Amino acid sequence: MTADSTSDTAAVVAASGNAGAAASAAVSASASASAADGTTRGLPGAFMLGSHRVTTPVMLSPMAGVTNWPFRVLCESYGPDGLYVAEMITARALTAHNPKALRLCRFAPSETFRSLQLYGVDPHILEQAAGIVVDNHMADHVDLNFGCPVPKVTRRGGGSALPWKTDLFREIIRKVVHVCAPAGIPVTAKIRVGIDDTHTTFLDAGRIAQDEGCAMVTLHARTTAEYYGGHSDWDRIAQLTQALDIPVFGNGDIWTAEDAIAMAQQTGCAGVAIGRGCQGRPWLFADIRNAFAGSPQRVNPTLGQVGAIIERHAALLVEFYDGDERMAVHDLRKHCAWYLKGFPVGGDVRRQFMECESLDDVHRVVDSLDPDVPFPMQIADKPRGRVRYAKKVRLPYDWLESRTLSDEQRRDLFESDPLDDVY
Ligand SMILES: Cc1cc2nc3c(=O)[nH]c(=O)nc-3n(C[C@H](O)[C@H](O)[C@H](O)COP(=O)(O)O)c2cc1C
Repeated sequence: MTADSTSDTAAVVAASGNAGAAASAAVSASASASAADGTTRGLPGAFMLGSHRVTTPVMLSPMAGVTNWPFRVLCESYGPDGLYVAEMITARALTAHNPKALRLCRFAPSETFRSLQLYGVDPHILEQAAGIVVDNHMADHVDLNFGCPVPKVTRRGGGSALPWKTDLFREIIRKVVHVCAPAGIPVTAKIRVGIDDTHTTFLDAGRIAQDEGCAMVTLHARTTAEYYGGHSDWDRIAQLTQALDIPVFGNGDIWTAEDAIAMAQQTGCAGVAIGRGCQGRPWLFADIRNAFAGSPQRVNPTLGQVGAIIERHAALLVEFYDGDERMAVHDLRKHCAWYLKGFPVGGDVRRQFMECESLDDVHRVVDSLDPDVPFPMQIADKPRGRVRYAKKVRLPYDWLESRTLSDEQRRDLFESDPLDDVY
């Protein structure tokens, strides 16, 4: 099976008895045509990202360790003609041609519009990385990560700490846009509300991104201090949407298609980005597509249908890892925990998934599931994945003293990148 096999995922799942997926696949053609009709219900319609028309303004938000091409392809096979963004790649790793980073830059042939996310703090390294993307035709869209709240990133001034330094933020965007624009590659920025409630950055960051040529901004409506705790503040999305002329995508706490509609209607955002809500639920994109098209159709697969998706996911991961089944099924483990969330499946079976070492092991455990168990509706609208507040926001020394970088900070910051060790 080739990486391109993804286009028939809906058919495969349908063949395995997933009536919901089959039905949602059937409405796909009309849904994309009627996405624009959503405007009559206060929903955003199609928009242009550079020269690319995004028919349904829905994005799979980049998630490290999750949104590699097998997962993107599963989501896309259910979903609308939206954006499906790869997990972040550190600019430094890309410039070092790190093999693990390069693997994460791969796309399936079925991904006709390829969105890559770059992370970094040094404008020159990011400029080089963007040059590599352009020269090697590696992507059709570059998103820049200014939203990561992880302490090892923010204590080096990266991710969501970075927009506080407006000069550095501007310099990075200017350099990357300068490299990407001539190649027709739109650049977008993903930001948070700020560092904490008294140090918000999103309005400045949005305006700078717009001034420097970003085609779109995605706002995860939490501060760094909020990490993944509580509920994101959708009013901030409305505020940013009002403040900018470029499209603003809203992000945070979309667990159901109804949440996606609510965010769009409450904030006036140009589109919605889905992170944790689709962990273990790639079919959420079908639900959202249907909802945007005014259809009440939802997928809600049985356990047997989820088993078929797990097997499909496993097979795609084997391709991603160039035939290495062990690596594939290890990657699959966290997804299995998400897939089974809420289903009445005993600890024994869950443990067996965690102990799989091959595709055969996965098939055996899937075969042991009761296929007729219905989808656990009681957890359908509940948060999943990370849900906690930051213990403490880590920042470089004196970071909050000024909105611009001192020479000393510049020197310290660019010496090494906190994520160098990740690869
Ligand atoms: C496991 C995990 C990994 C993430 N990795 C990234 C990433 O690589 N780049 C990024 O911009 N955001 C990343 N995020 C943030 C998500 O893209 C998203 O902004 C966040 O989860 C809020 O959206 P949600 O409430 O829909 O989950 C990650 C989130 C999670 C849970």
